[in-house]
Amino acid sequence: PATTLQDIIAHAKEYGFVFPSSEIYDGLQAVYDYGQNGVELKNNLKNVWWKAMTQLHDNIVGVDAAIFMHPLTWKASGHIDGFNDPMIDNKDSKKRYRADQLLEGKAELLTNAGKEDEANALLAKMGKLLGDEDLEAVRELIISENIVCPVSGTLNWTEVRQFNLMFSTKIGSVADDSSTIYLRPETAQGIFVNFLNVQKSGRMKVPFGISQIGKAFRNEIVARQFIFRMREFEQMEMQFFVRPGTEMEWYNKWKETRLSFHKAIGLPAESLKYHDHDKLAHYANAAVDIEYKFPFGFREIEGIHSRTDFDLSNHQALSKKKQQYFDPSIDPETNKPYGNYIPYVVETSVGADRLFLATFCNAFTKEMVGEGDKQKERTYMKLHPALAPVKAAVLPLVKKDGLAELGQEIANSLKSSFRTVYDDGGAIGKRYTRQDLIGTPFCIAVDYETKDDNCVTIRHRDTMEQERVPISELKERIGKEVAV
Ligand code: GAP
Repeated sequence: PATTLQDIIAHAKEYGFVFPSSEIYDGLQAVYDYGQNGVELKNNLKNVWWKAMTQLHDNIVGVDAAIFMHPLTWKASGHIDGFNDPMIDNKDSKKRYRADQLLEGKAELLTNAGKEDEANALLAKMGKLLGDEDLEAVRELIISENIVCPVSGTLNWTEVRQFNLMFSTKIGSVADDSSTIYLRPETAQGIFVNFLNVQKSGRMKVPFGISQIGKAFRNEIVARQFIFRMREFEQMEMQFFVRPGTEMEWYNKWKETRLSFHKAIGLPAESLKYHDHDKLAHYANAAVDIEYKFPFGFREIEGIHSRTDFDLSNHQALSKKKQQYFDPSIDPETNKPYGNYIPYVVETSVGADRLFLATFCNAFTKEMVGEGDKQKERTYMKLHPALAPVKAAVLPLVKKDGLAELGQEIANSLKSSFRTVYDDGGAIGKRYTRQDLIGTPFCIAVDYETKDDNCVTIRHRDTMEQERVPISELKERIGKEVAV
């Protein structure tokens, strides 16, 4: 049977990848904690992204901006006025929904029933009404489409209200309005407000990029699907500053580069696709999502947006600080420097948690092994070795006769190069299984012969093939495979 999200959630919890937040108090909706193996996998994903985006590009550097920012930031970015979702409640069940998602659900049903034209007409109508902020008409549409509450089964809907997704809190000890600040809903603005700091101090020349990894917060109305939609999550974003007029060229380049990245870390081509946006966010003139085929269908993992000069221009207007760049390169049409302009921006934005979920779902493998009566099911995590939480496990065949000491010595000699564990508890078959379940690519068995030939047996996770290797070659052999 196909893997379900329930299988994924259960495996993630049982093997120390992801736990519900504050679980002893029954958890907190849409908030999760990463466990001992989850933190390693997530850190590895972040390191791979950081290397691909900064280290491998001469013209991209990083920042680490604060989560709290001056409140005018969110006025300029449009989040105070426009970062809303249309919310609707069912009066009988008291359940809360997103009005747009209810209509999208109906459109999906129509599509599945072969009524694609009707589905598209419905989506177009919804897009227009939401664009016009005609919330009463959105409610009427829900009722005329006969969309009932999945819980109560009734059409007894409240009015539709706009709900702002930003979390707010107070800074300082004076509790008046001027001290209200927000938890950032995206990391991008920390890059925009530092655009000139980085450009000047780093003597950066357009085109150049700034990347950042950090937490973002959104008070999602409907938070479902495990770590797919969280209220506290992590983004990995890069803003690429370009000369106006060249943005589409860069947009297309980043669109391709980012898809290649996902393939390189092991997500199969057939599980990835682009989804062009018809309805553009308030800041974008072109936008595409990269979608991954989760157990619940193709969903967005990354967005690539051409943001024009929307952000920098608004920051210039509100801060009254010029956000211009002087471009000394020569315009072939006028034979003069391009001179001063506010750069355009192409953004790549991927959720670390969504990438984690995609990687985790893709790695989760159940297979029948053995022949005849001896056939049994085997579960393992087929993670790219660079992403695996543990790279090597050293397993002495038995504890006695000096094999334990020898095993510990080998583990100690490897652990400064890559994450290595030592395990001597229980039958060796059980110990292999334990490593398979967390995706350890290499198990190193130490046996009696090791004492004579100074060799160990490497057991490969995916094929279960075994090979004899000199202890002196382990560091290089495994190191090469697990390098980021
Ligand atoms: N700066 C642009 C921006 O924030 P977005 O499409 O709203 O764009 C970008 O978010 C990425 O952040 C998404 O593709 C997704 O991977 C991740 N993301 C957004 N909301 C999320 C949530 N509630 N939980 C987990 N990840 C989320």
